[in-house]
Amino acid sequence: MNQFNRTNYIFPAIGMGLILSAIIFVVVLIPRWTFRPPQPKDLRDYTSQELRGREVYTREGCFYCHSMVSRPQDWDHGTKSKASDYYYDEWHLLGSERSGPDLSQIGGKFPDEYHVQHHRNPHSLKPGSIMPSYDYLSDQDMNDVTAYLQSLGSNGRRALDPQTGKLKWAELVDAKVPSGKIEKVAIWKGGANFVADRERIASESYDQHPETPYKYTAEVEELLLGTSHEAQLSKGAVQAVATATFPTQEALREARIENADVRAWTEVDYKEPATAPRDTVGITSLQKIRTIANQGRGIYNQKCGSCHGLTGNGRGWASASMTKRAANFWEDKFENYRTDTWYWRIRRGVPGTQMPRWEFELTPEQSLYLVAFMKYVSQNKGLGALKGMDDPIYGIPPSSAKTSPQPPN
Ligand code: HEC
Ligand code: HEC
Repeated sequence: MNQFNRTNYIFPAIGMGLILSAIIFVVVLIPRWTFRPPQPKDLRDYTSQELRGREVYTREGCFYCHSMVSRPQDWDHGTKSKASDYYYDEWHLLGSERSGPDLSQIGGKFPDEYHVQHHRNPHSLKPGSIMPSYDYLSDQDMNDVTAYLQSLGSNGRRALDPQTGKLKWAELVDAKVPSGKIEKVAIWKGGANFVADRERIASESYDQHPETPYKYTAEVEELLLGTSHEAQLSKGAVQAVATATFPTQEALREARIENADVRAWTEVDYKEPATAPRDTVGITSLQKIRTIANQGRGIYNQKCGSCHGLTGNGRGWASASMTKRAANFWEDKFENYRTDTWYWRIRRGVPGTQMPRWEFELTPEQSLYLVAFMKYVSQNKGLGALKGMDDPIYGIPPSSAKTSPQPPN
């Protein structure tokens, strides 16, 4: 009996041990011996400061939450990682968990001060963040780990111009580090030019959208236009504001007696007519359209302009530092967006980008005024005939705006 039991233990144990060793051999040891990535032409070695920062990064377990590899399917993470990116890494920090964003392209995205502030207190920059606070790090550790982050990626401080082999964005200078020693430290070069260059790059890659196709459209469309509870609700919200032009269905019907083509608020075309309308109904409805769009513009300037640009062309200053740039509403496709498409994109935000979910902050009415402005901007590719901020009509609720028929200018 005893012996029977023992054999029962030993053979499976040996078998499992062999399987485990085989797995370790294949997935750990063989790659370790054979992985020899080519020496990169677009990356320099780490400075000692950056290496110290890398140690802080490992010691603090940042890699438990952050990966360091941008895969082809990571369409919002920037340039794809390639083997040579890891040439100077003694062991990799690829990570397997993405509780936080991938950091392989983080270099150059934000100023140093942003990182320091974010590490000290993530909540001060991202109220919903689950990233722990690292305010206990010494100044040296904080600077070092920031230097490490800034060294990463094709816009980081280690990036070389593959043609000339020179540093693309940074230069190496001798500096006294907090420990008192003199060593090579990488700093951004170019000062004010640097900002201009980054903005240029942001706008160039905005035009090309190299790795950032609109992948979510089909799903989002389904969410927006499907039979979901929310989609049903949106109809109610749209209805609530449809009254902004014609307060009652009655009024709409009456207006249609005069002009059969008059449409309700939600169906309105926001394109400025090629020739100014002459009839009373045409003039009134054009003025109302502009008033409503202007009303949305006030909210837009406050909440959206920094990313999408004050004229809606996607070139707001904050856009320059984003991997996934804010949308450019002058693109042709936006002309055809329907009210509910606009409405739900604004309410739900765009997952995987920095486009917030505005439903937490804006009322349905505010969102619909925004929709009016978005439609106006996209159909006229700009601010068109909207009044300047100095005009009294600007920012006044449509209900109290002056709408006596006057020929539009
Ligand atoms: C518990 C998981 C977790 C750990 C551990 C963690 N982070 Fe994060 N990190 C996050 C999350 C979640 C975000 C996204 C929200 C935010 O930006 O705060 C993030 C964001 C970031 C960002 C991007 C900031 C931005 O605005 O895009 C950087 C850089 C970063 N972390 C660095 C670090 C460093 C360095 C460490 C280690 C010292 C670290 N993280 C440890 C979860 C973590
Ligand atoms: C922090 C920057 C930021 C702010 C602020 C912001 N957006 Fe965005 N927005 C983005 C980004 C990034 C995208 C994603 C672009 C893409 O998918 O190409 C986006 C996408 C959108 C889209 C979807 C475009 C599409 O392709 O369907 C709409 C609509 C939109 N934003 C409207 C707004 C409105 C309205 C506001 C203000 C209430 C606003 N955004 C504020 C960054 C921002």
